[in-house]
Amino acid sequence: MGAGRGTAGPGRVAVVGGGMAGIAAVKALLQAGVEVFGVERAEELGGLWRPAPDTAAYEGLRLNTSKPRTEFSDHPMPAEWPDYPTRAQLLAYARDYAERFDVPRHFRTGTELVAARRTEDGWRLELTGPDGAYEETVAHLVVANGHNHTPRLPEPPYPGTFEGTTSHAHSYREPSAFAGRRVLVVGTGNSAMDIATELAGQADEVLISARRGVWVLPKTLFGRPTDQWNGALAAVLPWRLRQRLSQTMLWLAARGAEDPALPPSPEGVLQDHPTLSDTVPALVRAGKIGVRAGIERFEGRRVRFTDGREDEVDHVLWCTGYRATVPFLDPALVPDPARLPLYRHVFPLDDDALSFVGLMQSTGSALPVVEAQSRLLAACLTGRLRRPSRDRMLASVTAELHAARERWGDRRPHMRIDVDRYLRQVARDLKGVRKATPLAGRRVLVTGAAGTFGRALGARFTELGARVVGLDLHADASAPVPVVACDLTDPESVTKGVEEAVRLLGGGVDVLVNNAGRGGPAPAELRPSAEVHAQLGLNLLGAWDVTGAALPHLERARGRVVFIASRMAVLPLPLAAAYGVSKRALAAYADTLRLETGTHVGVTTVYPSMVHSPIHDSTREAGLSLDGVSRPEPLEGVVSAVVAAVTARRAPRDVATTRRGRAEMALARHAPSLADRIVRRTVAARVAAGAFADAPLAEGLRRRHGREG
Ligand SMILES: Cc1cc2nc3c(=O)[nH]c(=O)nc-3n(C[C@H](O)[C@H](O)[C@H](O)COP(=O)(O)OP(=O)(O)OC[C@H]3O[C@@H](n4cnc5c(N)ncnc54)[C@H](O)[C@@H]3O)c2cc1C
Ligand SMILES: NC(=O)c1ccc[n+]([C@@H]2O[C@H](COP(=O)([O-])OP(=O)(O)OC[C@H]3O[C@@H](n4cnc5c(N)ncnc54)[C@H](OP(=O)(O)O)[C@@H]3O)[C@@H](O)[C@H]2O)c1
Repeated sequence: MGAGRGTAGPGRVAVVGGGMAGIAAVKALLQAGVEVFGVERAEELGGLWRPAPDTAAYEGLRLNTSKPRTEFSDHPMPAEWPDYPTRAQLLAYARDYAERFDVPRHFRTGTELVAARRTEDGWRLELTGPDGAYEETVAHLVVANGHNHTPRLPEPPYPGTFEGTTSHAHSYREPSAFAGRRVLVVGTGNSAMDIATELAGQADEVLISARRGVWVLPKTLFGRPTDQWNGALAAVLPWRLRQRLSQTMLWLAARGAEDPALPPSPEGVLQDHPTLSDTVPALVRAGKIGVRAGIERFEGRRVRFTDGREDEVDHVLWCTGYRATVPFLDPALVPDPARLPLYRHVFPLDDDALSFVGLMQSTGSALPVVEAQSRLLAACLTGRLRRPSRDRMLASVTAELHAARERWGDRRPHMRIDVDRYLRQVARDLKGVRKATPLAGRRVLVTGAAGTFGRALGARFTELGARVVGLDLHADASAPVPVVACDLTDPESVTKGVEEAVRLLGGGVDVLVNNAGRGGPAPAELRPSAEVHAQLGLNLLGAWDVTGAALPHLERARGRVVFIASRMAVLPLPLAAAYGVSKRALAAYADTLRLETGTHVGVTTVYPSMVHSPIHDSTREAGLSLDGVSRPEPLEGVVSAVVAAVTARRAPRDVATTRRGRAEMALARHAPSLADRIVRRTVAARVAAGAFADAPLAEGLRRRHGREG
């Protein structure tokens, strides 16, 4: 693929499906500034992770891909979650992710795409929503409708008649309905493993029918989640070598154990969709699950297997997988989605108004793949990336299909993706492609938005695609972003101000920058003046109050809070005790907040040094200017440090704004006495030079330095 020059929008885009794939697609397109809406026929987003009659989710479902290998690259799962999160956790994760990137606002839930007809310049969509049927025209259609909802039943059916009951894994919810029954679980995929395990505690008898061998992988190998043995190396090593390494590791891990509980497939590990289970092998060995060959025929309640063995069962539970379907597209256009040639598993060769996200079978987690596909899609639709010519796309698809057949045989070769290789390939495609605005769609609240820092922050965040609203004492129409009038030292005003800001931001906040602050003369030796109270009230308590008010929104959005402290928080200077104290307390507040909410909200403290701004005016007027003690630094550096903290994958803890700042912070932390000595010497030199000669508030300092009168 080649970097494109154009930036032309693709026109309006519709995404069908509000599962992981659809959410990732809408998010990437929004971030790229594309006009997009999603349709989801269920009332909620989350796809098959919703516990509902139209999904395959059962009560005991857990991920079989581990946390770091599953999560989206810009939205880590909480550290306290287990290696293999539960269905409910994944659903919560999906919704958090969607909320954080403002996706739900762009989805029409309770809306089904019934048919999509190709027009000359796009698609005519027939939709049914809460208010009935309607039509809509779009320029591009993204199909993200999932492929795990149409049960695949044996076709043709097995000969004979079965007089017991049957069901498919799609409708399985929990095992109690099978108490006292003899159940035949057909298949050796992950559904079969999970369901057989649950039934083993409840049903009278559980049999698994395996029509061929299967490698059942443990969920943990040598103390690590099994899929974490893949990664960067897996992306470059030939799969046959990886196969040999994997089989050696499995053999070493199983040394001393009996033969495999289920016969492994002759093809070898990595040549099948991975089946993982710690429980089934143990239950087979304990005699709680029986293993049978493939089915030959039924007769009454008897099942005859291909090895001649027969058993009587009451229920056949087909765990035979799913068929990929796109019922809303003309079958002439897509006769069988599982055999569709798609460039990079996204782009049809002959229709540039149609794309697919999630129509693939990954060797690992699906989430990073749909994320990568969505980025690719967004880059192409915005013209930042050019698709190759049809001939080159065809050559690539043909070569890939050939390699897939060699590895996976006839088992859905068009859909196969080796996750590590695929992610590497897409990363290569996207290398050098201009980033879409990195903060597109993010909702940012900045306090002190009418001040020097606040204006610069508002302007930069807006430039980067964020929606920004400010809070300041007076609504300032000349500020680069809308500013809500709010006295941060008045709790009632804060409640109202934050509410109004959230409303203006469309119902949530992703990033809060606690920037508002005031400086002023405040020698430590004097009893606290009104000025001291004012600084503590604004710099510490104001930030605390706004954070508390905005926190429910930030938590929902897995957001970020940035506190603009000061170098004086770590390196206090004389005559400005209120400022140093309030900023150091602010940093301590940030540290405590991180301990409480860090699992959901990233907390960063930024420590600028002296930046020219009116904050120093009152100190200067009092004759206490610290010019010459603090080294001034450019405003741009501070803004960049805040932006970097907000866009970093994980929120950094403490951020200096310059290299000198980093050195000063290290000195203050690791050699505080030396730092004190340097400051004392500099101040003494300033006093000697008559710097504070006319300042009544510096009288004590002058006296102790022998400079009275
Ligand atoms: C039981 C089970 C366990 C799994 N475990 C894992 C795992 O551990 N790790 C992993 O990475 N992957 C796992 N997967 C794979 C899973 O498919 C992906 O992780 C991913 O969730 C698929 O997302 P999707 O958006 O493509 O599909 P889905 O989640 O199926 O979402 C598709 C959405 O499209 C909607 N839709 C469909 N047609 C229409 C229409 N015409 N109009 C409007 N809306 C429509 C559906 O209602 C649905 O909400 C599992 C799959 C299953 C079945
Ligand atoms: N997170 C989890 O723990 C979890 C749990 C359940 C499912 N999942 C995921 O959900 C998806 C679907 O899994 P799945 O297990 O439902 O389906 P699957 O992976 O497609 O497995 C289907 C199984 O049924 C067998 N089969 C298919 N047709 C058959 C027939 N006519 N007669 C006999 N056997 C037949 C297949 O055998 P062949 O291999 O010979 O075709 C295979 O063993 C997968 O992505 C899976 O990883 C994950």
